[in-house]
Amino acid sequence: MKNTVVVGAQWGDEGKAKITDLLAEYADVIIRYQGGCNAGHTVVVNNETYKFHLIPSGVLYKNKFCFIGAGTVIHPETFLKESQELIDRGVDLSCLKISPLASITLPYHIDIDGISENSSGKNKIGTTKKGIGPTYSDKIGRHGLKIQDLYDEELLNSRLDAILPLKNKILEKVYQTKTYSKEEMLEYCKKYAEIFKPYVCNEWVSELSKAIKEDKKILFEGAQGIMLDIDYGTYPFVTSSNPIGGGAATGSGIGPTHIKNVIGVTKAYVTRVGEGPFITELTDEIGEKIRTIGAEFGTTTGRPRRCGWFDAVLSKYCVLVGGLTQMAITKIDVFNNFDEIKICVAYKDIRNGQIYKDYPTNINIHKYLEPVYETLKGWKSDISNIKSFSDLPENTKSYLKKVEELVGIPVKIISVGPDREQTIILENPFK
Ligand code: GDP
Ligand code: IMO
Ligand code: MG
Repeated sequence: MKNTVVVGAQWGDEGKAKITDLLAEYADVIIRYQGGCNAGHTVVVNNETYKFHLIPSGVLYKNKFCFIGAGTVIHPETFLKESQELIDRGVDLSCLKISPLASITLPYHIDIDGISENSSGKNKIGTTKKGIGPTYSDKIGRHGLKIQDLYDEELLNSRLDAILPLKNKILEKVYQTKTYSKEEMLEYCKKYAEIFKPYVCNEWVSELSKAIKEDKKILFEGAQGIMLDIDYGTYPFVTSSNPIGGGAATGSGIGPTHIKNVIGVTKAYVTRVGEGPFITELTDEIGEKIRTIGAEFGTTTGRPRRCGWFDAVLSKYCVLVGGLTQMAITKIDVFNNFDEIKICVAYKDIRNGQIYKDYPTNINIHKYLEPVYETLKGWKSDISNIKSFSDLPENTKSYLKKVEELVGIPVKIISVGPDREQTIILENPFK
């Protein structure tokens, strides 16, 4: 059994899709298990760029079973647009399947997300406004719709009778926005029932049981990042799902005993989009330099990403809560031209000098914490076409060794550029 989870081990946008795409070549089944179209996953193959939001990056290969699991939330319009664009580019989506248990982002979820963000002033989270929080709230509150509900008219009618009166009162009285009639919602559901139909996999239990029995290689594609986890991230500045490794089990329908490896994808520095604490954030010209060279602008919203030095304290925390067994480190080429590179090894409380070597989860004290850095020498050369570890400059090797030592798990994949080819794989979990 070699089943492997790819998770983001920072605040998202670590380059998960690139790593998933690489490993998908060796996998039989690829499963996206949480999040929704808040994700923006970029894959570059022979200079061609693909941007995914909901659809697993594995669809670029033929004859893989690509599955969108029960832990995801699906925004119908985004799914339609994304699938159509891929089909137009010649990608065969016959391998793509959706869990009937996945939740649906309805139009009012998007409305509520937008209004909440716009009216929160300095308390805003900086969401992607894709309706993620409201969809998961309804799922947990048991007022949501699942894909399978679209195919039972009687049930759909009675669900809407239960959901809409209260939802409309809230939309009208609390959010002071437009309401939705039952006819309008039925029409919407009917339209998307047809669009989803070829993809819905009611046989998912047989399919996944068979895959496990036949010892097929299963790759789980995480979205967002561990620090955005609803339980373990910087709450409330988080998303509404579980990007930790454990989320792969709950979100896919394949239990934890069937998972062997969890690869934590980390950039050689840290970025964050949206609000919330970020101890190693650089608001100076170095942060600007990282943003410019790393092209750190959101795939989904285009927002500039906040940038900062690599934070080993945070990474060690991700090893624990994410269940990481190894690291994939991306974007080290961004430092090609840096004289020196810093790594945060501890936090210091400016009130009393207390040193934190382990991540304090109470974000209310983060404003008092400043990073303690170790400084390493840069390599001052272009490593973006280097194909083997032994050819890397000595300073790059020292940098990677230091990261491994501080974080406590091995680096098995080194990414030196956006293209599939620009990768040094020290150990492939599927081989
Ligand atoms: P994801 O959400 O974790 O899949 O990451 P995104 O796709 O949002 O952002 C990562 C960005 O970095 C994308 O534009 C990738 O093409 C790019 N990228 C990935 N790995 C590397 C790398 O090693 N070097 C460089 N320069 N770019 C990379
Ligand atoms: P990928 O999969 C980076 C952030 C938002 C915001 C917070 C909550 O591409 O790494 P939400 O819309 O989920 O309610 O927003 O989470 N966020 C992401 N940041 N990458 C992502 O996805 C993100 N998905 C959500 O910016 O701070
Ligand atoms: Mg992204």
